[in-house]
Amino acid sequence: MKITMIGSGYVGLVSGTCFADFGHDVVCVDKDKSKIDALLAGRIPIFEPGLDHLVASNVAAGRLKFTTDLAEGVRDADAVFIAVGTPSRRGDGHADLSYVYAAAEEIAQAITGFTVIVDKSTVPVGTGDEVERIIRAANPDADFAVVSNPEFLREGAAIDDFKRPDRIVIGGDDQRALEVMRQVYRPLYLNKSPIVEMSRRGAELTKYAANAFLAVKITFINEIADLCEKVGADVQDVARGIGLDNRIGSKFLHAGPGYGGSCFPKDTLALLKTSQDYDAPQRIVEAVVAVNDNRKRAMGRKVIHACGDDVRGKTIAVLGLTFKPNTDDMRDSPAIAVIQTLQDAGASIRAYDPEGMEQAKKVLENVTYCDGSYQTMEGADALVIVTEWDAFRALDLDRVKSLLSQPILIDLRNIYPREMVEKAGFTYSAIGR
Ligand code: UDX
Repeated sequence: MKITMIGSGYVGLVSGTCFADFGHDVVCVDKDKSKIDALLAGRIPIFEPGLDHLVASNVAAGRLKFTTDLAEGVRDADAVFIAVGTPSRRGDGHADLSYVYAAAEEIAQAITGFTVIVDKSTVPVGTGDEVERIIRAANPDADFAVVSNPEFLREGAAIDDFKRPDRIVIGGDDQRALEVMRQVYRPLYLNKSPIVEMSRRGAELTKYAANAFLAVKITFINEIADLCEKVGADVQDVARGIGLDNRIGSKFLHAGPGYGGSCFPKDTLALLKTSQDYDAPQRIVEAVVAVNDNRKRAMGRKVIHACGDDVRGKTIAVLGLTFKPNTDDMRDSPAIAVIQTLQDAGASIRAYDPEGMEQAKKVLENVTYCDGSYQTMEGADALVIVTEWDAFRALDLDRVKSLLSQPILIDLRNIYPREMVEKAGFTYSAIGR
C-alpha cells in the first residue's frame, strides 16, 4: 500500500514509521521545512524511545520518505492520513480544526485515482463530514472516501502501542475505503488486534470517550486517595482490591498529582464543548476536569504542609518535570502548578528531569536547573518527586539525607515504601497512604 501522512508530529511520525516497518510505502509530509530537513538528516525532532532506530532502518530500506511537498506525497497514494495538530482553541477550549481543514483543501487538489482520506487527528464528531464537504467542493471530480481512524498511542510507549494495539477503530461506510483500511492494518492481524468497524461519527466519539473514561478512572482513584489519607487506609491496597475485579481492571488506578499531557486535558475539554453544542451534558467529565485542575495546585500545598506549612525562604528540590516518564513533554504537567505554587509561597526551586529540561525552561522561570538527581538536592530543605522516572526509583537514601538540610521526602507518585524511607530517617509523605 502507498500511504501518505500529512503532519510529521508525534502521531504522524510514529504511525508513518510503523506503517513503513510493516512493509508499506510511506511518505511523511510536513509544512515545517526545518522539521523535514532534520528528518532527512536522520535527526528525530521528538523524544520517543526506539523511534530513531526505526526511522533509520526504514529510510535505509527505502520505505520511508520525508517531504514538504504535499501534492507529491498525495499523488498515487492509496490512503492519505491527516495527522496534524488539533490544539485547544485559545479562548473557548473547542478543538482548533484549522490545520485539519487546510490539509483537506490541499489534499483535494492533489488526489489522483481512488484515495481514502483518513482522519487520524483527534477531531470532534462531525469533522469527517466537513472534511468530505471541503474536498468535494474543492475538487468535484475527485474519487475519494473519508474514514475516521483515531489513534490511542501513549507517549513513551507509542511504538509498542502501534504495533500491538488493544484494538483498531475504523469509522466509515464506504466499502472500497474499508477494504483499503483492512489492507493497511493487515500486518496487525498477526498480533490478533481486533478491528472494530463502525460509523464515522461513532469512531470520532470513541476516541474522546476513551480518553475521558481514562481521565475519570485516574481522577476517581485520586479522590479515593484523599479519603484514604483521612481514614488511615492505603490507596495502593484499595486500587489492587478493586482492580482485580475484571469489570474494573487494574490499569490507570495509580493515584498521583493529577493527569497532564497533550491528550487528556485537551480532549476532555473538547468533549465538554461538543456535549454542550449537542445539549447532552457530560457532568461526570465536567467534574473530572474541575477536580483535576484543582488537584495540581493542591499538590503544591501538600508540599508546603509537609514542610511545616511554611516554605518562605526555603529551597525545594524537585525531581521529574515532564507530565510522565519517558517523554520530554511538559504540556499540562502537574510539575508546573506544583512549582508555581511553591514559588508563590516564597520557595526557591532546584529541579532536574532526564529529558524535559529544555521544554521546562520554556514554561518555568526562576528555577535552578541541575545536572542530576543528587546535585538537585544539595542544600535543599525538602525533596519532591513529581514524575516517576526509573532513575528516581532507587535513590541512595543515606546520600539523599546527607545532601538535604532537612530529611523531608514528598513522593507524589508513591514509588517508595513508607517503612523503608522512615527507617532511613525521613519524614515521608505520599499520596493516599
Ligand atoms: C493518553 C492515552 O493513554 C492514549 O491512549 C491517547 O492516545 C493519548 O493520551 P498519554 O497522554 O501519552 O496517552 O499518557 P498516559 O500514559 O495515558 O498518561 C496520561 C496522564 O495520566 C499522565 O499525566 C499520567 O501520569 C497520568 N496517570 C496515568 C495517572 O496519574 N495515573 C494512572 O494510573 C495513569
